[in-house]
Amino acid sequence: MLRIGMLTSGGDCQALNAAMRGVVKGVCSKRDDVEIYGFRDGYKGLIYANFDMLTAKNFSGILTRGGTILGTSRQPFKLMGVPDANGLDKVSAMKHTYHKLNLDCLVVLGGNGTHKTANLLREEGLNVITLPKTIDNDLWGTEMTFGFQSAVDIATDTIDRIHTTATSHSRVFIIEVMGHKVGHVTLHAGVAGGADIILLPEIPYDIDVIADVIQKRSGSNKSFTILAVAEGAVSKTDAQLKKKEYKDKLAKRKYPSIAYELAEQIQQKTDKEVRITVPGHTQRGGSPCAYDRVIATRVGAAAAELILKKEYGYMIGIKNGETQKVPLQNVAGRLKTVDPNCSLIQEAKRIGISFGDEI
Ligand code: F6P
Repeated sequence: MLRIGMLTSGGDCQALNAAMRGVVKGVCSKRDDVEIYGFRDGYKGLIYANFDMLTAKNFSGILTRGGTILGTSRQPFKLMGVPDANGLDKVSAMKHTYHKLNLDCLVVLGGNGTHKTANLLREEGLNVITLPKTIDNDLWGTEMTFGFQSAVDIATDTIDRIHTTATSHSRVFIIEVMGHKVGHVTLHAGVAGGADIILLPEIPYDIDVIADVIQKRSGSNKSFTILAVAEGAVSKTDAQLKKKEYKDKLAKRKYPSIAYELAEQIQQKTDKEVRITVPGHTQRGGSPCAYDRVIATRVGAAAAELILKKEYGYMIGIKNGETQKVPLQNVAGRLKTVDPNCSLIQEAKRIGISFGDEI
């Protein structure tokens, strides 16, 4: 008997179901003695032994379905090893569930926080295999995470739709794009949507440069300006602050997010009408795009192969377009940020897109 535990953890994204389907189909095509334990709502399900016994049938017909059939939750790493309200040690509880069910391995689908915990469980002796899930595409060890391209497509569609109304009204529009502390989604959606200014956490901006770009556009008969702004974008001044000082500043900020702070500053400096659009969680919602379905299916199938070979302790990543196994300890705790010198940014600058850093 092959007993596989499976869970999805952290924020959901498109193609989680497609990836699980890939794992299950890949394993069940070779073995018919498989038991699948689907833990509910992320690591919580493993901690509190809340699971459903699933079969290959449960993973059929879910390729195109958004969200996750297992449910998910955020289980911050810092809570690991700290007892819950009833004094339960969560790491011991997870190990207990794993051993009690006599699992051969645990398949974990998640992003950065999830990988830290997965690596911790590996260190505790559990057989873990992970799949790279996040719209943010910020996981080290893989060129691509599933969910990313779908989010880019949705953010791009938002920018496309804003274009016509921005032009009609000669307005400045700020579209705030998800991505947590990195700018991969914003960079790609900004270029694909024809944004005039793209602001990323990795390239601190100068508000005077932004105002200057907007004024220059007005002067050359381009009365509208579209800014694609990463939710984690930061000004040059704020980038100088120490981590704690910046955190305190954010806590005291009167604006709900960076887009609102920018809107007020731009309005004051340019006298233009500014509007804000925040696509928010729509970027994680709905059916996965074709590209994500393919990536998810591939990493799922590659994970199945490792399970069948009993090779554990890896994340399945993508390198040069090929699936590869990456040791979990190399992935945990490492963020893949946008390289400010990457050719995409250089090419974007070449066609006149501003990153708010230089005139
Ligand atoms: O990590 C994915 C992500 O969508 C980030 O881009 C965003 O900052 C965060 O999750 C939002 O988290 P939540 O769904 O918990 O509000």
